[in-house]
Amino acid sequence: MKRRSFIKMSGLSASGILASGSITALFSSCQKDYRLGLVTKPVIVVEGDFSNLLTFPNQSGANFTLTAQTTSANLKGNSVSVLGYQSNKLLGPTIRINKGDAVNILLQNNLSEPTNIHFHGLKVPAIMDGHPDQIVNGGSSFRYQFIVNQRAGLSWYHPHPHGNTGKEVVQGLAGAFIINDSEEAALNLPSDQYELPLIIQDKLISSSGIQYNPSIKEIMAGYMGESVFVNGVFSPFTEVSARIYRLRILNGSNARVYNLALSNNDDITIIGNDGGLLKMPASVKEILIGPGERLDVLINFSNTVIGTEIYLMSKEFLNGGNAQGKQNFKIMKFKVSMQSFSTFTLPVSLSDIPTISISSVVKSRTFEISNAMEHHGVPMNNGMQMRHRINGKLYLNTRIDETVAKNTNEIWVFDNSKGDEPHPMHLHGVFFQILERTKGRGNLLASESGWKDTVLVLPGEVVKVIIPFENNTGKFVFHCHNLEHEDDGMMLQYQLS
Ligand code: C2O
Ligand code: CU
Ligand code: CU
Repeated sequence: MKRRSFIKMSGLSASGILASGSITALFSSCQKDYRLGLVTKPVIVVEGDFSNLLTFPNQSGANFTLTAQTTSANLKGNSVSVLGYQSNKLLGPTIRINKGDAVNILLQNNLSEPTNIHFHGLKVPAIMDGHPDQIVNGGSSFRYQFIVNQRAGLSWYHPHPHGNTGKEVVQGLAGAFIINDSEEAALNLPSDQYELPLIIQDKLISSSGIQYNPSIKEIMAGYMGESVFVNGVFSPFTEVSARIYRLRILNGSNARVYNLALSNNDDITIIGNDGGLLKMPASVKEILIGPGERLDVLINFSNTVIGTEIYLMSKEFLNGGNAQGKQNFKIMKFKVSMQSFSTFTLPVSLSDIPTISISSVVKSRTFEISNAMEHHGVPMNNGMQMRHRINGKLYLNTRIDETVAKNTNEIWVFDNSKGDEPHPMHLHGVFFQILERTKGRGNLLASESGWKDTVLVLPGEVVKVIIPFENNTGKFVFHCHNLEHEDDGMMLQYQLS
């Protein structure tokens, strides 16, 4: 494919049974008909009154200690037990560093269970990547040390202990990781109080805390909660000035996909995603964001009368399977409270994104990610396991699934054409460009241009990406970022050598 057609395609089509007692019974029936009694349903979001002040995790540089611990936090008015990287808070600090900085993070595990840290979106040496084998046991510590040598962008960090990632993340272990560089600085984008990092997560809340005990249906659809939090705050609001803001959005939810929009139907201007700035801005009315994905957007509040309240919301969307996209709900409130003056004008061009030529590709691999129906005949006596697979395989740490030659370009195809659930597919250690989506929605979104590390593959879709593997050799995982699917085994390994 030539450069021009790539740009056209990747670019700016700017449209825009529960408890364990019944498991055995279900599993015996599921060998005959897996679907029997297993039709997943949406978990309806219940909005609050948007009266809680949005807060932001404290900011940290490149040298510090994260202490994974059981602590308490105030959620929806109750002080409950959660997991934290610091006391009395959900979520870890927002790490903010410059390209070229040396990172030195000590993880002290004060939990009574294993954990570790994966730096999602950072190109770090394999031994620093938080592979599920690189576990830090309770009472132990590990020092993560690496140089960050990649362009500006919003990455994040979270635990990756196989089988327990979903629980540790939803209980509070995650944080944002922002890299700045000179290319980005030259754009003079809104910064400081005008740049808002927003980590969106849904949780099931009871008076005793964050519930996490996934049922079979929750493993099928992924864990979703009725309560939507931003930066660990339920139903929040923030006061803003009548000017342009930069929102750095992370979908840190285990499974929920959001179709972000503004309640006044204003444009959202996308300037970046997982791997940093896009080539050029794109204005849209709504943006789909799956678990693990990030967005860098500008919102213009300057045409708004003081006193106006605008909500960031999630709109209904198509093709989400049985459990997703069925509801409009509000996520947070912006209250335009202050006049402001800013000279910021949106640049026409943001960044230089090289196009990887298709002719350089040495190998193509296809991954069948349609779930479920393949399990007929497989003994399902393995507890909650044995459902979500990639190419028919479940995660096994002793098996290398794909061997990739360093410094080569490959095409990987994720085929969900027979599937009925969304799968946000993620690779460690690399960024890729999305070449095309066929079937299903059949197009690429403006937010899917540039560099990505996670791509949403909705039911019925086939998505093709091109990946430049560099010389960061070692063993890495790739997986579905629906954390229940991942913990259920929807993860394989590639060896770069
Ligand atoms: Cu955020 Cu292995 O992923
Ligand atoms: Cu990752
Ligand atoms: Cu999945």
